[in-house]
Amino acid sequence: MRVEGVGRNSIQGDVRFVEALEKMGGRIEWGENWIEARGPETGRLKAFDLDLNHIPDAAMTLAVAALFADGPCALRNIASWRVKETDRIAAMATELRKLGATVEEGADYLLVTAPHDFNGAPSAGHFRPVGLTVLSAPTGQTLVAIDTYDDHRMAMCFSLAAFGDVPIRINDPECVAKTFPEYFDAFGQIAAPVVAIDGPSASGKGTVAERVAERLGYHYLDSGSLYRLTALAATKAGVALDNEADVAALAITLPARFEGNRIWLADEDVTDAIRTEAMSVGASKVAVLPAVRTALLARQRAYRRFPGLVADGRDMASVVFPDAMAKLFLTASVEIRAERRYKQLMQKGMPAKIRALLEDLQERDARDSARSVAPLKQGDDAECVDTTHISIDEAVSAVLSSIQRQTALTRTI
Ligand code: DC
Repeated sequence: MRVEGVGRNSIQGDVRFVEALEKMGGRIEWGENWIEARGPETGRLKAFDLDLNHIPDAAMTLAVAALFADGPCALRNIASWRVKETDRIAAMATELRKLGATVEEGADYLLVTAPHDFNGAPSAGHFRPVGLTVLSAPTGQTLVAIDTYDDHRMAMCFSLAAFGDVPIRINDPECVAKTFPEYFDAFGQIAAPVVAIDGPSASGKGTVAERVAERLGYHYLDSGSLYRLTALAATKAGVALDNEADVAALAITLPARFEGNRIWLADEDVTDAIRTEAMSVGASKVAVLPAVRTALLARQRAYRRFPGLVADGRDMASVVFPDAMAKLFLTASVEIRAERRYKQLMQKGMPAKIRALLEDLQERDARDSARSVAPLKQGDDAECVDTTHISIDEAVSAVLSSIQRQTALTRTI
């Protein structure tokens, strides 16, 4: 991580924060007007015992960094924390405990030990939620809710707890407006960058996106499967696919789970059921309904996680992740796409006729492109990869080099 605008000669006292990172094993390089920080060689941060009187504000970050350290961390001489935006010593102790940390709180110090694993060792980054947990509406995940006490630094510091293994929610995140209103946008772009891959059906984007995600070590979202699941759930419930209100209601509470390469709707494995031609057509029908698209928006965004996400669909770059660090449009001639779909279905032993597939694709392209909300089209800021005459491997390479090109230009925040 390189920070520009502060460096060796900076008169800003808080640059001394970097010395604490160094004590924790961070590898630091200083320039005239920049500082670079890398994680420790071993990957684990070391415990510390420091007098932090000279950097009281910046030191708050160390209390959260202690959640990732390999032993008890002492923050000393921080009495001034008690008379800031809130009693920061008390607030910090309360919120750290919610993640399972052991915290000793003194008049002018904090002693923070990361949650212990089952062998009794501090488990650095593996949390044990003991505080208030809430259910996330879009995903049904359990989250630890962190309170911020109208203190922008509480919100910013605890955003780093997102690097642990328990999903967290920061309550009242708007309190960052006091000093840095765009904080969470900037944080998201660094900690969970998104690669958006849009394109028509059967352009190969699913396979390509999945492989690109694997190569980058990122998570993967196949947003089309959410529309397919919605169509399937509606069909099962006997709801007409053009009944906007009822289909949207189903989409909001969709009991969908993705486990490895299997997809579940409640307790039924629907991995194959959502891939039929009937569900392809159904998905494209429910996808024209604005209320359904809105219902699925938060759910799609919830897939954005550290260290990053590759998302494929139709409106990833335009609507769901407009701040994606790289945007691609994958396409191929409709004839080639029909041929590919045909081969796919044959392999799965599903009967199909190439002529009918071609017509289906043309019809769906037309519906996806002509709809008024989030129509399928290449955005001005997306790079196009035409896969008509190239293999999957070549398409993966083309996408990876496009990401490299785009990020070289945009990853300065
Ligand atoms: O990518 P796919 O073939 O699985 O998508 C199924 C349908 O869902 C497709 O016809 C268009 C729609 N869709 C959409 O409108 N927006 C997305 N982000 C993804 C899919």
